[in-house]
Amino acid sequence: MFLNLFKKNREPRPIFEALGTDMHCHLIPRVDDGSKCIEETVECLQTLRTLGYSKVYITPHFQTPRFENDEDDITRRFMEVKTKVADAGVDIELAGIGGEYRIDSGFYNRLKSPRFLRVAKKYVLVEFSLHQQMMGCDEMIFEMQMNGHEVILAHPERYPYLNVRGSRMEQLKNQGVYFQVNVLSLGGFYGDDAKRRAFEMLDLGWVEFLGTDTHNTMYAQALTDLSHDRKVAKVLETHEFLNKTL
Ligand SMILES: [Fe+2]
Repeated sequence: MFLNLFKKNREPRPIFEALGTDMHCHLIPRVDDGSKCIEETVECLQTLRTLGYSKVYITPHFQTPRFENDEDDITRRFMEVKTKVADAGVDIELAGIGGEYRIDSGFYNRLKSPRFLRVAKKYVLVEFSLHQQMMGCDEMIFEMQMNGHEVILAHPERYPYLNVRGSRMEQLKNQGVYFQVNVLSLGGFYGDDAKRRAFEMLDLGWVEFLGTDTHNTMYAQALTDLSHDRKVAKVLETHEFLNKTL
């Protein structure tokens, strides 16, 4: 009986229909720590579809020196993936290619770049180091904004050195940086601290976007499990997000 219950709970529920669009995932095979092959990409996208997503933007890592990706190469690969996903019959729109740009030493060179791959041709998704604060991050974001870019900070709840109520986080918010929380953070996938911060930011009204940050089928399974979480369903019912505008 318990086994049956467990099995039943692992069926995906379409709770993300209200969002419609996922704007953060790593499903271009073999360009970062995400999908390893097109079959894995197809499987993940099939799961996202059954969870209620109808539109996806793929956002590979751009990070020095770990993922030295090139915008033209990534765009070409995206077009190939798009064709293969359509051939596989997955009923989901691959709406565009973005990037998840790590603000690191290599980022200085990108600052004035018109080459940023932008989500919905509008937003540049950036991330910080998960372990330590890099000096000058906020100044670089400010410079991006001065150059006309709309900036989304990926998973602010995952940076242990940033206190939600600390002045730095508030400063980023005040200077017009959009925040994107990972939906899996809401279920504790990244630990209790990230979960607490995610809910704290939601309560403050600081979260404009939710993303899956899907890397592989393990994430797809975790999202499937999360689709049975009542607290997450309530967040989706009671908050307005900008995902649907993408
Ligand atoms: Fe990511």
